Amino acid sequence: MSPPGDTGEAMDEPPANLTLTVGFGPSLFTSGGTDRFGLASRRPAALVDIPAFPGDLLDPARSGGDLCVQACGDDPQVLFHAIRNLTRIGRGTVVIRWVQEGFGRTSSTTTGQSTPRNLMGFKDGTLNLRADQPDFADNVWVSATDEPGWMRDGSYLVARRIRILIEIWDRSSLADQEATFGRHRDTGAPLGTDDEFTPIDLAAADRTGDLLIPVDAHVALANQAAHKTHILRRGYNFTDGLDPKIGQLDAGLFFIAYQRDPRAQFIPMQDRLARADALNEYIKHVGSAVFAVPPGIARGGWIGETLLA
Ligand code: HEM
Repeated sequence: MSPPGDTGEAMDEPPANLTLTVGFGPSLFTSGGTDRFGLASRRPAALVDIPAFPGDLLDPARSGGDLCVQACGDDPQVLFHAIRNLTRIGRGTVVIRWVQEGFGRTSSTTTGQSTPRNLMGFKDGTLNLRADQPDFADNVWVSATDEPGWMRDGSYLVARRIRILIEIWDRSSLADQEATFGRHRDTGAPLGTDDEFTPIDLAAADRTGDLLIPVDAHVALANQAAHKTHILRRGYNFTDGLDPKIGQLDAGLFFIAYQRDPRAQFIPMQDRLARADALNEYIKHVGSAVFAVPPGIARGGWIGETLLA
């Protein structure tokens, strides 16, 4: 007798807002100079290998991949079910390379949401791109004038597993923590102001002439208006329990960003942060991946149709 068609663990559950996002990694197109699946000529120029940045401590076992599936929803049991069954259906063709579970989320993405907090206790997502704002489409979706045509209305996903050195962070003063981000912890307001949504003024100084936001603060280096580079952050908190090597929590931010072209967005932004961000004292980038996410599917269509039909 053959096994049942469904593994059953989500049988009595509602759909839990499940969404699945699928992406194609650079190695699906070319790997070690080999055209593995006859797709090399269709690799988007924007799907570059993410370069090494200063301070990277990447684990190859938690990086890269030919395909990615991002399952999001309100119930981990439903998400587990989705990933498990896709894996089951793909058995013999695909194998799982790495998995990252995440919880909460670290970015508000519409103006209707209040800003959630990351594991460092700060509001995260205040100046994120908002799906209901006019500059969203230009920065997130591959446009009708971009090549290749099969990626139009798609997007590029960059994922970074960023470990937070929680014990070191927990020993630093609130003033140091706030100087690290350039924002107040409780309100999320830029330093020296009291409203979360006060625009960031990198030239603002106190009466003695000292800058309110230090030049190496995270928001000074990431500020999208000043550097004319915007991304959609869609990250999650994570913990994978204890790191037995050091007897401390293995926890952090599973950073995910969507954008129209990583060469013009994530890469220059991360290059600036990796060189000078005060936050680097408290974090380590330990995993990295990039994927081309094709456009969504029309009724009756299938994922990846524009590339593979
Ligand atoms: C553990 C790592 C990180 C933490 C805890 C973190 C946390 C934060 C916080 C608290 C803010 C201020 C609130 C906000 O506007 O959202 C912020 C802003 C921001 N972060 Fe990060 N971040 C991390 C890594 C990164 C990385 C790797 C990038 C991109 C390469 C990035 C890009 C940004 C951007 C674009 C902003 C908005 C800046 C602005 O326009 O003012 N962050 N982040």
